[in-house]
Amino acid sequence: MAKEINTIGVLTSGGDAPGMNAAIRAVVRKARANGKKVKGIRRGYQGLLEEDIIDMGRESVSDILDKGGTILFTARCSEFRTEEGQRKGAEICKKHGIDGLVVIGGDGSFAGAQKLAAFGVNTVGVPGTIDLDIACTEYTIGFDTAVNTAMQAIDKVRDTSTSHERCSIIEVMGRNAGYIALWCGIANGAESILIPEQYDYDEQKIINDIVANRKSGKKHYIIINAEGIGHSTSMARRIEAATGMETRATILGYMQRGGNPTCRDRVYATMMGGLAVDLLCQGKSNRVVGYKNGEFKDFDIDEALGMNKGVPTYMVQVSSDMAK
Ligand code: ADP
Ligand code: F6P
Repeated sequence: MAKEINTIGVLTSGGDAPGMNAAIRAVVRKARANGKKVKGIRRGYQGLLEEDIIDMGRESVSDILDKGGTILFTARCSEFRTEEGQRKGAEICKKHGIDGLVVIGGDGSFAGAQKLAAFGVNTVGVPGTIDLDIACTEYTIGFDTAVNTAMQAIDKVRDTSTSHERCSIIEVMGRNAGYIALWCGIANGAESILIPEQYDYDEQKIINDIVANRKSGKKHYIIINAEGIGHSTSMARRIEAATGMETRATILGYMQRGGNPTCRDRVYATMMGGLAVDLLCQGKSNRVVGYKNGEFKDFDIDEALGMNKGVPTYMVQVSSDMAK
């Protein structure tokens, strides 16, 4: 028989992402609607091991739907990667009466949830990362806000690049994934998009393209470079030396992770937080929520972590055709 859930815990873990607050709010409100209590665990698995646990009533999540960041704070915790840490975490959950846990984070955080499930705590993961690098889902909380923030910043860099007739290399986040770079590259009309999944490190090809563009009268040349490739500053120096075109590097950095979530991030985060609670209330565990083919669904964590995201090849093809 499925374990009866009375108290649901919620934590955010890994890099923060706009919309995480909307997901926390959804967990608290949906749990209350289902007649369950909620405890918030602050600072991810680190806070769990330190028993930084608070009761979360209705008011605790008022006025947070539109706020970036996470009111529960977030952290990375190396102790939780050890079996001893995971066993201790499960014992702390039991001590505080937490029989179901919603983990909002990325693949690493899900690996932690998987371990807790093995130690008897029912867990459901909700994908929260600006990187969009979770294979089982076409949507992750925060990506939409982050790409819109980055796109607006790149528009501004483009203005000054055109005025000075410069080449600009703009580096965007994404860890080892190129989704932010690819989406911004398309949305900002970049001449070149470098993503780790595809880049062949043939800088001469870019240099030749810059020279050809210059000859054809183009005033700027925008390169969107993914964090997973990096080295934008040294790349700028080499490109300037080889082409004679003034070249600047801009690393957008943490501004991409902050700010008010977009409508999509608020709505989808609310749906996913709500679904996670329903799954726990149905006695499910070791699941992760995703969005696939127009539907919110759940997947087995073991299977989800084993999936390969791959490169959206048609998107890559179209993006490069746009620059021809
Ligand atoms: P994300 O969740 O965004 O992928 P991280 O990879 O930094 O971010 O993971 C967040 C946290 O999840 C880590 O600091 C660690 O506490 C926990 N974690 C990551 N991988 C594992 C693992 N294999 N086993 C247990 N816990 C893990
Ligand atoms: O996973 C989100 C993310 O912002 C990545 O894009 C980036 O590589 C990483 O987190 C940066 O992490 P930190 O906050 O530890 O510097």
